[in-house]
Amino acid sequence: MSDSQVFHVKPAMAASAQVDATQYRLMTNHAEHDADAFWLEQARTRLDWVREPTLGCNAHFSGDHAIRWFEDGLLNVSANCLDRHLATRADDIALIWVGDEEGVEKRLSFRDLHEQVCRFANVLKDQGVRRGDRVAIFLPMVPEAAVAMLACTRIGAVHSVMFAGFSASSVAGRLEDCGAKVVVTADEGRRGGKRVRLKAIIDEALEAGGSPVETVIVLRVTGAEIARQPGRDLDYAELMAAASPDCTPEPMAAEDPLFILYTSGSTGKPKGVLHTTGGYLLWAAFTHSIVFDYRPGEVYWCTADIGWITGHSYGIYGPLANGATTLMFEGVPTYPDAGRWWRIIDQYQVTTFYTAPTAIRALMTAGDAPVKASSRASLRVIATVGETINPEAWLWYYHVVGEGRVPLVDTWWQTETGGHLIAGPAAIVAQKPGSATLPIPGVLPVLLDEKGQPVEGEGEGALCVAKSWPGQMRTLWGDHDRFIQSYFSTYPGYYFSGDGGRRDADGYYWVTGRMDDVINVSGHRIGSAEVESALAHHPAVAEAAVVGVPHDLKGQALFAFVILCASDLASLDAAGQRALCDELARHAGSVLGRYAAPDHVLVVPDLPKTRSGKIMRRVLRKIATNELDSLGDTSTLADPSVVDAIVERLRARDVVTAQ
Ligand code: PRX
Repeated sequence: MSDSQVFHVKPAMAASAQVDATQYRLMTNHAEHDADAFWLEQARTRLDWVREPTLGCNAHFSGDHAIRWFEDGLLNVSANCLDRHLATRADDIALIWVGDEEGVEKRLSFRDLHEQVCRFANVLKDQGVRRGDRVAIFLPMVPEAAVAMLACTRIGAVHSVMFAGFSASSVAGRLEDCGAKVVVTADEGRRGGKRVRLKAIIDEALEAGGSPVETVIVLRVTGAEIARQPGRDLDYAELMAAASPDCTPEPMAAEDPLFILYTSGSTGKPKGVLHTTGGYLLWAAFTHSIVFDYRPGEVYWCTADIGWITGHSYGIYGPLANGATTLMFEGVPTYPDAGRWWRIIDQYQVTTFYTAPTAIRALMTAGDAPVKASSRASLRVIATVGETINPEAWLWYYHVVGEGRVPLVDTWWQTETGGHLIAGPAAIVAQKPGSATLPIPGVLPVLLDEKGQPVEGEGEGALCVAKSWPGQMRTLWGDHDRFIQSYFSTYPGYYFSGDGGRRDADGYYWVTGRMDDVINVSGHRIGSAEVESALAHHPAVAEAAVVGVPHDLKGQALFAFVILCASDLASLDAAGQRALCDELARHAGSVLGRYAAPDHVLVVPDLPKTRSGKIMRRVLRKIATNELDSLGDTSTLADPSVVDAIVERLRARDVVTAQ
């Protein structure tokens, strides 16, 4: 191997692998040379079907861009995640829930979870929810979130989970777009000793009208006082108590919609990424098993919130389809102190631990002592997702958390891909800090140069995929044209991820970051357009442009450049402007959710624009990071003097740190 820092698979790990290196090579060859046969075999052996599929892939990266897998198969996701395990492991624990406060926990066996899912499926049916209807889930990290998701899949309803950190207007937009009939929420959520008033957010989101929500089912988590709208708001516990525990799973076509999950694009409103039933579940189960070298009976913990794709694929669907015990934690890594995660690992004998670089960096700042206070002897695999992990954080995670004893797997993928696309299975592939390593069998990554030509061997380019894989998203909800435009128009014939990548001499992939205007803050994808539009809605703002700048803990932070309305600017002195900048950051946070509040807001007289009026964010990025020597060609700017004016404002230190 060419790199000096290569971490080889330990012989004991390789020797006990569920799938060993030779088998993996055979799988990769098979998937490459006869994809249909390979994936049909995987689908038939890894999933239970009501009617087994005979058709493999029917996908087109041109024309109508229709993507179908296993289209003559029939199956049910909840039956795969629950019912089929009942015969052999009904009393095994399916879900361990660990509460925000220490000492609070719940354990649900497959039997318990199955019963709750059946009951809630009947609750939904009683509320008139039918196959294909959309159900929005706005819940904290509580077992009922898993129950609600699985109950939807049982009756063929399409769930759309909304991250419990979203604001009312973010929720309202998504409710309207997906046309949810029912919302499942809680009175409040608990996180790190704080409370979030979820029901109040739903009330506010529904106030404006515009969405067809008929019913709001409210789970009592904290028992807080909430407003009730008679006829619309119903109590979760009361409905569950009255519901039957028997519910036959609906046989669904493999291509029936499973869920919609909204994610940020570089332009416009959030995109409703649609995943379907068979291909998605296979991808989640296959990758969970292979990449993490999952073994039956192990306790597996993915720290991602169910509001994001990682929480879906690797918190719920992948592990439960494989019969794993999945751990769900309500809290945050630093409450009550930075040792909390490591104590949970010991207490529940967690074997596989999957988290994000931003959390690792935050915990690194607390030093080694909180980690060393735990044993972590149960760990077998540690893993990361969400952004490129900087080698410093990788090495700390590997040496301090994993004690150099267990493999650290980096996994590159996206909401759109359903599951891992580039990741080196823990027991098979040597790791290099900062590289996502090698593609999963059947995945054909391609790096395209500026002319759209594939780069051979070592090189850099736009990270695309040449062929469909079962877990690929099928469309954007209600907007297939935008799906084609977003993912297939830049490089016709290829799926374009939006990321840039580099391939080294060993064929390892290194993700170099987004090539579009999507900003990755603490693993949350934020479109610059969303934040700009939130800022522009403030009465004092005439126009705004937002870019990402490097941040030690978050990976990237938001830097907003704002032009104030003339009257506001005239009436404010420096202190007044600073206070306004603070207010603007808070305003963006309240429109979109706190995670989207800019760290920096700078009042500027103008923005760098091309003659056709397009904001040149590339120039703003360089200004924000003080790389004035490498501004690049600014001659295409309508008014190049704008750059100097902005730099002057920056030097005058009108930047505020809002958080
Ligand atoms: O830029 C890549 C980055 O996160 C984006 C996908 O974000 P999202 O759809 O929210 O899904 C996050 C969880 C899968 C990608 O386009 N990204 C994700 N994982 C990695 C990564 N960048 C580098 N290395 C990773 N392992």
